[in-house]
Amino acid sequence: MALIDTPPTDPHLGTISVTLTINGEDRRLDIAPWTSLLDLLRLDLSLTGTKKGCDHGQCGACTVLIDGRRMNACLLLAVMQDGRAITTIEGLAENGRLSPIQAAFVDHDAFQCGYCTPGQIMSASALIEEGRARTRAEIREHMSGNICRCGAYPNIVDAIEDLLAQRGAGQREAAE
Ligand code: FES
Ligand code: FES
Repeated sequence: MALIDTPPTDPHLGTISVTLTINGEDRRLDIAPWTSLLDLLRLDLSLTGTKKGCDHGQCGACTVLIDGRRMNACLLLAVMQDGRAITTIEGLAENGRLSPIQAAFVDHDAFQCGYCTPGQIMSASALIEEGRARTRAEIREHMSGNICRCGAYPNIVDAIEDLLAQRGAGQREAAE
């Protein structure tokens, strides 16, 4: 019996309409059902700040925020995100200024080639909001899903630790 192999580009398979809020902007999109969120962002929407490293959920280069939670975009089907808010590295800057975590990465030289950096920053921004890391060991543990081939880990931890300290000082001042 002959097997029929339908190529993924077959136009007769159709698309699915979804609405996503991407970096604060509502987008109605017709998406092929097999499209990963990572490919949607990079290939269809030209948001190439989100990187493809392993494409298998192993490196964290594709980390984005979905409703504020950090997720690997390579492991998610775009059509399954209907109604959700996606934040990519392009959406972190505020009024044309680097966000505090982006500025901390610059201040601490927390990158070399920069390929992992968008994923590191997205993950770090969520980690700070999660409030789960207070020590360097906890920062390392909760950032362990983001791999850096250049080995910039000490500076990445410095950047996150510095921002956590600034946040803590700000909260103490507000309470006084
Ligand atoms: S590209 Fe998604 S985890 Fe590596
Ligand atoms: S800065 Fe090069 S992989 Fe992290």
